[in-house]
Amino acid sequence: MQTLKKAEMLEFSEKGDERGHLVIVEAMQDVPFEIKRIFYIYGSDPDVVRGQHANRRSEFVLINVAGQSKVKVLDGKGNEAIFSLNRPHTGIYLPTMVWKDMYDFSPDSVLLVLASEHYDSAEYIRDYDTFEKEVNQNG
Ligand code: TYD
Repeated sequence: MQTLKKAEMLEFSEKGDERGHLVIVEAMQDVPFEIKRIFYIYGSDPDVVRGQHANRRSEFVLINVAGQSKVKVLDGKGNEAIFSLNRPHTGIYLPTMVWKDMYDFSPDSVLLVLASEHYDSAEYIRDYDTFEKEVNQNG
């Protein structure tokens, strides 16, 4: 899979038969990185906003394997996009250095996150002004 530079929806292959559905997500093929970490988020109330951070090194793919949620992505240069995650065979790719909010979680939402890096709190930017400054400093 080619290198991706901006947030975009990904469509995964789905093998359905009379036994049900099976979705395939392979590192470096269906997502543009080696997967070093997975985590998943569930039980978030509809009025909760999660995320609210940017990452200096981690790329992510988010997949609502059940239920639905929304992701708002800001690039720190005035552009904003909102993505709906509502199908188990689609996901959103998030490059480094974008600000993201996850919200509007349905009660049955299970949001699976694939990450390109191990967890390191130092590569998270949790203050929007700091994020905006870093983005604009680095072109
Ligand atoms: P947080 O980044 O606030 O979650 P979200 O991205 O959904 O807003 O993470 C919640 C807590 O979990 C925080 O204390 C950091 C910790 N955490 C880890 O220890 N490892 C991880 O891989 C992640 C994603 C979070």
